[in-house]
Amino acid sequence: MDRKTVALSQLSANLCSSLPEMRAVLITDRKCQILFRYDRADLISDSSDCSDRSENSESSDIKAEVLTSINLQLNPILDQIQREDTGAKYTSAIFEAENFRVFNLFVDKWIFIYVLSIESFIDRLNPYIFLTSEKFYRILSQEGRVQVDLEIPKLGNVLGKHFLPTDKEQIIKFGFKFILTGDSGVGKTSLVNRFVEGIFPHDFRQTIGVNILSHTYTFMDNKVKLTLFDLGAQKFFQRVRKTYYLGSNAAIIVFDLNNRESFLNVASWREEFEKYVDCDYILVLVGNKSDLERKVSTKEAQDLARLWNVVYIETSALEGENVEEMFVMTTFNIIKKTQKLLRTQE
Ligand code: GTP
Repeated sequence: MDRKTVALSQLSANLCSSLPEMRAVLITDRKCQILFRYDRADLISDSSDCSDRSENSESSDIKAEVLTSINLQLNPILDQIQREDTGAKYTSAIFEAENFRVFNLFVDKWIFIYVLSIESFIDRLNPYIFLTSEKFYRILSQEGRVQVDLEIPKLGNVLGKHFLPTDKEQIIKFGFKFILTGDSGVGKTSLVNRFVEGIFPHDFRQTIGVNILSHTYTFMDNKVKLTLFDLGAQKFFQRVRKTYYLGSNAAIIVFDLNNRESFLNVASWREEFEKYVDCDYILVLVGNKSDLERKVSTKEAQDLARLWNVVYIETSALEGENVEEMFVMTTFNIIKKTQKLLRTQE
């Protein structure tokens, strides 16, 4: 087995052990040819000939059911995607076979197929599916060494957790959850990469659903752990996105200084976040790509920030300008707010 297959298998095994409802995972090309499969229940036969029922057993019926459904249902969807050519890079589709629910995510040249038990509650599984798909994509598209965290976090703990100082008396440790939101392409992933890894990757691709990174650093003798949720902006991800807002301490709403529309859309990103967040939070407005020609003036953005009563900061993930400052300032404002909160509770 090559390194990629080992990583894909390990990740699939971790997903299946986190989710009892997950029965099998397949990755196919756009012609539905299976490139990889992980089959916890031996649902999918080696042969892709769906008419092969020679084993005459329940298991061969199920294998046939899964493969037949995939072939029958995916082909028309693929035709439709090709016909409509909406320009969207990712599309998802769910269908039901007699005994299974099948969730499909079409990403570039691949289809990630998740075979779930029929009673599965898709809304609960969605966040895991998107997180895993992002990791699959990174494994498949990486050259050489595979550098992807193969663990599947227990999202139940992460999504709704309110992070507060671990020690009220002597506040030395903090853990906060930050959400980065805003239109596609404004630079959310680039800001996170610049802050966490100190690099600016030049190969652009959209975040599939969500990318979760954590970063620990020392701030005024306090150890701070940030969990950064970099959320994909695609429309089809909207229904899932709301689950990630739970327990957020800060929403960093990013727009592109070189793209006026992304500035006009910040209000709807704020609205979406505020509709679903369930705890005390702070908002930060970020104008990114300050190194490019401006289509939004500093004054306009400052005026909006004043109206919202939030902090505004301009960054360049490309040049590293103000990136660390933005995250540190946000941390500082939360600590200030949290301490005030603790004092009023005493
Ligand atoms: P989605 O994943 O689709 O939501 O996009 P995103 O907001 O995460 O954007 P991403 O970080 O992937 O960046 C989009 C494009 O903008 C890429 O080509 C980046 O190289 C470029 N970019 C990001 N930040 C900057 C910046 O500060 N300056 C310039 N010039 N380009 C940037």
